[in-house]
Formats: sequence, structure tokens, C-alpha cells
Amino acid sequence: MSTFKGLVLAGLLLGSWAHADELGPGLGEPVSHRALSEMDFTVLPNGDGLPAGQGTALLGSALYDQHCASCHGEAGVGGANAALVGGVGSLDTDRPLKTVGSFWPYAPTIFDYVRRSMPYPSPGILTDSEVYSVTAYLLFLNGMIKEDVVVSATTLPRVNMPNRDGFVLGER
Ligand code: HEC
Repeated sequence: MSTFKGLVLAGLLLGSWAHADELGPGLGEPVSHRALSEMDFTVLPNGDGLPAGQGTALLGSALYDQHCASCHGEAGVGGANAALVGGVGSLDTDRPLKTVGSFWPYAPTIFDYVRRSMPYPSPGILTDSEVYSVTAYLLFLNGMIKEDVVVSATTLPRVNMPNRDGFVLGER
């Protein structure tokens, strides 16, 4: 290839590369604000992002039996999947039992986890108020709230979790 042809080819390649870079790879389509807001439903540990709605353990009990007990056991223990109740005080023993009650430091995270992923395999079938109620039931079973406490965006962040100060920042 002559030097001239080589230069032209390099120029063309560079030109098309610069062009593609400007426009992107040409895949997919821009995400609309609406689609983005449907995915943007994270609840932070301090409760930021908790939605409107409310629930109680009394209401959550029936929902739990219907949607959760088959995998997590009646009252949160003895199921095929993770125990959700118990283990408080066991973390520094030979047989630590990590549950949302004994291990999780922030109550709003229970709401966030359940709303985004439970009941497996059909997350999203519960309304926000139903998720508040199921969360309240789990907190009640773990002895952290009374059965009739109204759990909402205001009250959930105030629930005192026993392992709240059990995490330390690593050196890294
Ligand atoms: C078909 C089975 C199934 C159903 C039904 C189900 N889950 Fe789960 N759940 C799982 C699996 C699997 C995991 C993953 C953790 C594991 O088991 O080790 C999990 C994890 C969880 C965790 C986190 C536990 C932890 O300590 O990390 C919570 C909280 C939870 N589920 C709540 C619920 C609630 C509330 C419902 C009902 C609304 C529900 N699940 C229904 C299977 C299920």
C-alpha cells in the first residue's frame, strides 16, 4: 500500500471513529424520565425514599401467612429459606444467627428489600402499605415494636435495631 493510500485509509478510519464517538455506539435508546423514575425506588437506611402509606403488624400477619410463610416458615422461623426472626444476642457466640432482627442495622432496609425482591418470585405484587404491614409484622415478631404500632415513612426510621452499632468501618 502506498503511503498516500495508507494515509487516506487511516484518515477514513479516524474519521469514522470520531463520528461514532460523537454519536455513541448507536445501540439502545435514551431512557425517559418516566422509565427512570419507575426504577428509582431505593430507600436509604435513614428512611429517605420511603413512600406514602402505612401498615401494622396486625395487618401484616395475614399477608405474611399468605405470601411469605411457605418459604420463611410460620412466624419467620423453620422455613426452607432464611430465618427472619430470632438470633438477637447470638452474633458474638459460636452459633450466630443472622436475621433481619439480629443482624440488619436499619429498619427501612427491610422495607426496601421486601419491596424490591419479595415475595419471590413475584416482587411487586404487594402495595406499599402492604409492604409496610409485612415489615411491621417482622419487626413485631422480632420484639422491636408492638402489634398495633403504625409503621410509615415517619415511624419506620425511628425503630431501634439491636445491631445498629454492630458495624465498624474497615481500614480501607
Ligand atoms: C418462594 C420462596 C420465597 C417466598 C414466598 C418469600 N421469600 Fe423471602 N427470601 C427467599 C429467598 C430464597 C431469600 C434469599 C435468602 C436466603 O434464603 O438465604 C429470601 C430472603 C428474604 C429476606 C432477607 C433475609 C436475610 O436475612 O438476608 C427477607 C427480609 C425476606 N426474604 C422477606 C420475605 C417476605 C416479607 C416475604 C413475603 C412477602 C417473602 N420473603 C417471601 C425466598 C422467598
